[in-house]
Amino acid sequence: MSPETAESTLKPKWARVDEYCENALDVRDSEFEAMLESNRAAGLPAIDISPLQGRMLAILARATGARRVLEIGTLGGYSTAWLAQAIRFQPGALVMTLELDQRHAGIAMANLYRAGLWPLVDLRVGPAFDTLTHLVASDEQPFDLIFIDADKAEYAGYLHSCARLARKGTLLIADNVVRHGEVANPESKDKSVRGVQECLAAFTKYFEFEWEATVIQTVGSKGYDGFLMAVRW
Ligand code: SAH
Ligand code: DHB
Ligand code: MG
Repeated sequence: MSPETAESTLKPKWARVDEYCENALDVRDSEFEAMLESNRAAGLPAIDISPLQGRMLAILARATGARRVLEIGTLGGYSTAWLAQAIRFQPGALVMTLELDQRHAGIAMANLYRAGLWPLVDLRVGPAFDTLTHLVASDEQPFDLIFIDADKAEYAGYLHSCARLARKGTLLIADNVVRHGEVANPESKDKSVRGVQECLAAFTKYFEFEWEATVIQTVGSKGYDGFLMAVRW
């Protein structure tokens, strides 16, 4: 069976297992479900992280005691909400989230407001690369946890800025680095795949002595993909 066939055959099973685990662990918080519904109604693409992945981000935020979180790629604010909710009782809790699209930002703001999380969120609209450059230039305090989930072609560029917005112990997570396995194709012409490959390569090229990184492949309701996880030490 070719990898593609295996994926299409197994995908319904991955989705069923996600559903089973969401129920078993009571992960589908009603407030956040309403967000996904509002995103659907507004015609946003259903490319938010899954509920179980949201719970994973929340666990990582709590485990690291994160107070200041940086997110790149807001969409409708679903992942923002999981992060904000996880850190909301921390002193100085803040999720700064960067979004290019004014319409996405508006929907995210309304969603986060309805969820009571808006006071914790600093939403910056514009190309993330420019916002990050500005944050670095203006000596923004380092972030404890960084979640990269915007345009994949720019991941390497984001990584370089993010490294300058980190401290020892900062946890960095990037979504969608496996891309149905295409990340392992050195011939790929896909800009997103190239971007992710460049981002991975940067860890040995530039950050070998400062960052420790791994990739975890995932399957589930969102198909076959994976996360990059790295810590600055
Ligand atoms: N993190 C969200 C999903 C983000 S989808 C969640 O899991 O709920 C990716 C988002 O990145 C989209 O909203 C898209 O508009 C945004 N984006 C794309 N290019 C961007 C750029 N150059 N700067 C900032 N945001 C960008
Ligand atoms: C896409 C973006 C994402 O962040 C994701 O998790 C899935 C798909 C996309 O742009 O297609
Ligand atoms: Mg993503």
